[in-house]
Amino acid sequence: MVTLPTSVPRLTDRQPGMTAAELVEHLSPPPQFATASLENYVPDERFPSQQLAVTAVRAFASGSAAPKRGLFSRKSNVAATKPGVYLDGGFGVGKTHLLAALWHQTRGRAYFGTFIEYTAIVGALGYREAVAHFRGASLIAIDEFELDDPGDTMVMSRLLGELVASGSRIAATSNTPPHALGEGRFAAQDFLREINALADRFTTVRIDGDDYRKRDIEGHAVSLDEAEFAARIAAETGSVTVDPFRDVLRHLATVHPSRYVGLIRGLASIGLTDVGVLSNQTDALRLVALVDRLYDAQVRIHATGVPLDQVFPDEMLTGGYRKKYLRATSRMVSLTSMIDEGVSAAVDPD
Ligand SMILES: Nc1ncnc2c1ncn2[C@@H]1O[C@H](COP(=O)(O)OP(=O)(O)OP(=O)(O)O)[C@@H](O)[C@H]1O
Ligand SMILES: [Mg+2]
Repeated sequence: MVTLPTSVPRLTDRQPGMTAAELVEHLSPPPQFATASLENYVPDERFPSQQLAVTAVRAFASGSAAPKRGLFSRKSNVAATKPGVYLDGGFGVGKTHLLAALWHQTRGRAYFGTFIEYTAIVGALGYREAVAHFRGASLIAIDEFELDDPGDTMVMSRLLGELVASGSRIAATSNTPPHALGEGRFAAQDFLREINALADRFTTVRIDGDDYRKRDIEGHAVSLDEAEFAARIAAETGSVTVDPFRDVLRHLATVHPSRYVGLIRGLASIGLTDVGVLSNQTDALRLVALVDRLYDAQVRIHATGVPLDQVFPDEMLTGGYRKKYLRATSRMVSLTSMIDEGVSAAVDPD
C-alpha cells in the first residue's frame, strides 16, 4: 500500500456537475486538434486509403455550406449525395484529426462531440429540446460513434433522421463499420431496421494504416514502485490528484461519463495506486470513458500495482467491447509513459 500524503487532492473529491448548457457549450474539438487541418494531415503512402480519405473529406466539405433557411442545399457535388460521411478505421490512423479538420473548415453553425456527449445532451435537455437546439446546423460531427444499447440506437437513428431532414450534414468516426454497429454488444439483430436506416445516411470511408501509438502498444503501461510513485507526484508542477484505483472506479459510477470531461478539467496528471484487474464490464467501460477524456486532455497517469495495459481480463478482450478496451489500453500505455521534463529530471538522474 502506498501512503498518500493528505495534502494531495483526490479525484474522488471532485464533483463536476456540468449543466446541460455547459455540455452543449463544450461541443468543439479537444485542444490537441485545435490546429488539425486537411493540409497538415500527411497521408502514409503505404496506405492509399489515407489519401482517398482526405479527398473524400474535402469533397464532403465543399458541399457543406450552411443550409439555406427552409431550403435543402442542392449543390452539384457527388459527395453531397448522402448527407453523412463516416470515417471507419483502426486506432490512431487520424480519424479524429480529419473530423476536426472538417469541423474547422465548415462555415455556419457546426458542432463537434463524442457520441457519448450527444447522447448525454439528449438525456439532459430532453429529446425535443435537443432536436430544436441542433436543427438546421451546418454540421454535426460525432467522434467515436458506437451503439452500446438499444436506447442509444433508437434515439440516435431518430435524432439523425430529424437533423438530416432539417438540412444538417453529419460526419462520424468509428472503429466499427456502420452496418456492424452494436454487434456483440446487445441483440443488434432486433434493431436492424434502425441500424440500417442510420448506416444508410452515410458514405463510408475506410481508413487503413498503422496505429501511431503502435510502438507504445508493443511496450507496456508503466507501473511504478512506491518510491518512484511518490517522487513523481512530489515533482509534478501542475495540478495532480492521487487516489486508490478502486476508489476511482467507485467514484466514476456516481458521475455520468459525459461529465468526466469536467472531472479531470485543469489536471496535469492523476495518480492511481494499487491498480488491479477489473472484474466487471461496467467498471471497465467507465474506465474506458475516463481514459478517452484523459487522452483528449493529455493528462498524464502515474500508477502503482498491475500495469494498466493488463487490467482488462481475457474474457473482456474477446467480447463485443474488444476494440474499446484495446483503444483504452493503447491510450493508457501512452499516458503512463508521458512525464514532464521537470519530473523526468527529478526521478531519473541519468
Ligand atoms: N496522417 C497524419 N498526419 C498528421 N497527423 C496525424 C496523422 N494521423 C494521425 N495524426 C495525429 O496523430 C494523433 C492521433 O490521431 P487521431 O487521434 O486522429 O487518430 P484516431 O484514428 O482518431 O485514433 P483513435 O482510434 O484512437 O480514436 C493526432 O494527434 C493526429 O493529429
Ligand atoms: Mg479518434
